[in-house]
Amino acid sequence: MDLLVVGSGFFGLTIAERAASAGKKVVVIDRRSHIGGNAYSEAEPETGIEIHKYGAHLFHTSNETVWEYVNRFTKFTSYVHKVYSHHKGVVYPLPVNLGTINQFFQAAYSPEEARALIKEQAGEFDVKTAQNFEEKGIALVGRPLFEAFFRDYTAKQWQTDAKKLSGDIVSRLPVRYTYDNRYFNDKYEGLPVDGYTAWLEKMADHPNIEVRLNTDFFDESQPLNKKAVVGKTPVVYTGPVDRYFDYAEGELGWRTLDFEQEVVPVGDYQGTSVMNYPDANFEYTRIHEFRHFHPEREYPNDKTVIMREFSRFADKDDEPYYPVNTPDDRERLLKYRALTEQEPKVLFGGRLGTYQYLDMHMAIGSALSMWNNKLNESL
Ligand code: FAD
Ligand code: NA
Repeated sequence: MDLLVVGSGFFGLTIAERAASAGKKVVVIDRRSHIGGNAYSEAEPETGIEIHKYGAHLFHTSNETVWEYVNRFTKFTSYVHKVYSHHKGVVYPLPVNLGTINQFFQAAYSPEEARALIKEQAGEFDVKTAQNFEEKGIALVGRPLFEAFFRDYTAKQWQTDAKKLSGDIVSRLPVRYTYDNRYFNDKYEGLPVDGYTAWLEKMADHPNIEVRLNTDFFDESQPLNKKAVVGKTPVVYTGPVDRYFDYAEGELGWRTLDFEQEVVPVGDYQGTSVMNYPDANFEYTRIHEFRHFHPEREYPNDKTVIMREFSRFADKDDEPYYPVNTPDDRERLLKYRALTEQEPKVLFGGRLGTYQYLDMHMAIGSALSMWNNKLNESL
């Protein structure tokens, strides 16, 4: 074995694939029972509808290198992501755009008129002196839109009143003065034609790659554990950085999500893939309906799969999804980074290994850079 990769998410698999293609023998371990990290998907057994087990994943990128690379493993559909928002019994298009504004104010504003209106409403507070998330949000988009689409939605995400949240959690709130409600601005967008798992398995499908599932790097009863390997074999570690060092500098804060999945006996539940619920009287933040990610597929027309999403702070045993990133977290992260520098032949990567939110294209791009700039030469 020339390289041990801990974690079979997009970061780990990209490293493994590059190393294997360069003739290196790679072992990938993952403590889960399946490959693919959080991008993993599977067919819901009753309906055959592909569900994303760790939350809906939409692929998008403007990076030519990443786009060329991912197309070696899968084709992409022409799916274009759009999101709607269910506020006080009325459905609006998101991100907040001219359609949302005109529907909300029952008006026919031109882009210029809408811009002037929002600017006037935003005058209630100043971004520079705003004391909390609520004041900052109002300073950015004005009170009516902030309260309708952002205030309680964000409060639900953080389980914290908007007045008690720091203004630092946003630098801007998206408002578009056109009717364009495409969710992503990227040049390329689509979903893997045969699903995420087929794509992830194709990346791992190389004679130089061996994947071992149900294998935890910190389990000393299995041969490829931290104690046995570090310093002897090169390692790319994509698990949580604080866990690697036994939480020596304290725990880094994460938010997690809870998902409630349900098979509903109707052909179409909500007419679209993602519906946000920004109001406080719904506990969940959004509902996903997976069939709409693949309108090109033949799915049953009398059943559909929906998933309600709830957000909260993560305990140690929860899946870490989004870094909380308080000033304390940032300070701890710097200390952990200093420790990672001292680990012999271990490189830390991916969203957990670097404590940052990474989209899939960013995880893949960052793994390609690590391979080109650090690993390729040294193996
Ligand atoms: P992961 O996929 O998390 O992989 C890390 C792997 O390491 C896991 O399989 C884990 O089991 C394993 N591991 C951890 N510790 C150990 C250990 N001790 N021993 C062995 N294995 C271990 N990106 C997009 O581009 N578009 C989206 O729409 C999108 N939606 C998302 C929605 C949610 C709710 C979340 C949380 C993320 C979303 N992402 C999306 C981001 C995407 O999931 C990440 O980019 C991707 O998962 C990053 O890959 P990774 O390899 O860094 O981490
Ligand atoms: Na303002």
